[in-house]
Amino acid sequence: MNEEAAILAYPGNEALAQALTREGGELLDVSLRAFPDGESFVRIEGDVRAREVTIACTLHRPDEVFLRMALLAETARDLGAARIRLVAPYLSYMRQDERFHRGEGVTSRYFARLVSAVVDELITVDPHLHRWGALSDIYDIATTHVRATRPIASWVRAHVERPVIIGPDAESAQWVEALAEELEAPHVIFEKVRRGDRDVTINAGTLAAHEDHTPVILDDIVSTGRTMAETVRLLRGHELEPPVCVGVHAVFADDATSLLSEAGARQLVTCNTIPHATNAIDVFGEIAAAWRKN
Ligand code: R5P
Repeated sequence: MNEEAAILAYPGNEALAQALTREGGELLDVSLRAFPDGESFVRIEGDVRAREVTIACTLHRPDEVFLRMALLAETARDLGAARIRLVAPYLSYMRQDERFHRGEGVTSRYFARLVSAVVDELITVDPHLHRWGALSDIYDIATTHVRATRPIASWVRAHVERPVIIGPDAESAQWVEALAEELEAPHVIFEKVRRGDRDVTINAGTLAAHEDHTPVILDDIVSTGRTMAETVRLLRGHELEPPVCVGVHAVFADDATSLLSEAGARQLVTCNTIPHATNAIDVFGEIAAAWRKN
């Protein structure tokens, strides 16, 4: 990391930008506002010439955020920035990773092209890699994949006795297995059938050996909350303690919090990759360490 690095906080990402400054660099003010017709006004207050510039901007709600972030990056480049790094704790558009039906787009690839066109490097946390093996399959720029496993494990250690880690579906297995290993705890992966955005069925795995454990459901994304809620409902049908739900990214398209408490969850916590009231697990230390190293 360049000690003279300039850090720009996209509105709403000030806490992340502050966490980076603890590792070095200088926070510069940014003016980003809408003209009356909705177009963006962009101004960087301070000198970025020949400096490495980092933009702190999580990519939640990307259809609103991406263009402004890109205009901010282009402004920094135009003002002479030597290199532009994007720290985006949540990386969106990882879902369409294959053409599942005729005529559909592989939007994960197109979004990767757009991001790669405006910044030189991307640092993100636990991206939803499912059919893509690595970010480098679709991103043409340097990428760093930070893992939330250790902060999640510290939280679970401090708050849950005898956890059994539950993955709602095969896609969650990579996070569940890593957490179970870190905690030296058992884990079970369930099966999910998705019929629509808000229509999922979960089939349980074998729980008989874990009835004296507290289930900790772990998923990378909580969006509508249907996947978690169905998993909670299934677990409540067993002789187990009410489950604790842990999501890495609090996408929360719907009122997932009420859905989960109605389903019988003991608690829902998330990492601070997307600001939300459920953020109880701080991953900024991991992000800042990765940012400092590069
Ligand atoms: C996909 O498999 C992801 O890992 C999550 O399970 C999914 O995004 C959760 O979506 P929802 O909260 O809408 O059920």
